[in-house]
Amino acid sequence: MKKIIVAIDGHSSCGKSTMAKALAKEIGYIYVDTGAMYRAVTLFALRRGFFHGSDIDAPALEAAMGEVRVNFQLDAATGLPLVCLNGEVVENEIRGMEVSSRVSPIAALPFVRIAMTRQQQEMGREKGIVMDGRDIGTAVFPNAELKVFVTASAEVRARRRYDELIAKGQQVDFNEILKNVEERDYIDSHRELNPLRQADDALVLDNSTLTREEQSQWLLDAFKHAS
Ligand code: C5P
Repeated sequence: MKKIIVAIDGHSSCGKSTMAKALAKEIGYIYVDTGAMYRAVTLFALRRGFFHGSDIDAPALEAAMGEVRVNFQLDAATGLPLVCLNGEVVENEIRGMEVSSRVSPIAALPFVRIAMTRQQQEMGREKGIVMDGRDIGTAVFPNAELKVFVTASAEVRARRRYDELIAKGQQVDFNEILKNVEERDYIDSHRELNPLRQADDALVLDNSTLTREEQSQWLLDAFKHAS
């Protein structure tokens, strides 16, 4: 069967990556979490001290971009990709609130987007890939054979994120998470370069009331139809 590109876009914390991972596993495709790549760049900027309060020293980050190496390493136990920043697995560090509250302004910087987009296009050159993000179906792979746009209410999404972080033992406040989800949605959909928007030819999935199994089945059916 010919391999295709599956592009899954949508709002923050809408369960895109859970669905995308499950599909990739089921069909034997590579899974790429592009949000993790923007998060890794954000961690780099934090570690280098490029944030001053909420301001970013963009010229300093741009000058240092040549030193940012983001890639994925397969976890031997789960077979899932783990994001690495300059050779170090940073999966846990990038999921906390410190990175979450700073990632959208970093992802709005054109030089960051251009570098990440180029790398993502290279990863999908041979197809057989499920990639999730905000601009995959509109900018990274505008010709993807299957495009899905996932959404759910901000409250539902914040609740999912909250439960996920609590399960990991992190101390978090629900209202802070809700604010973060809403802020990221706003910045992601209003930035100049490749803002979050639904591709005209995307299938839309509002998963507010669907179980994980129902979402996975919906996506698998869409994949079968497209391939
Ligand atoms: O998907 P996740 O919530 O981990 O993404 C983190 C952030 O990275 C998003 O809020 C968005 O600002 C940025 N992002 C992006 N383009 C992508 C993927 C993520 O701008 N393709």
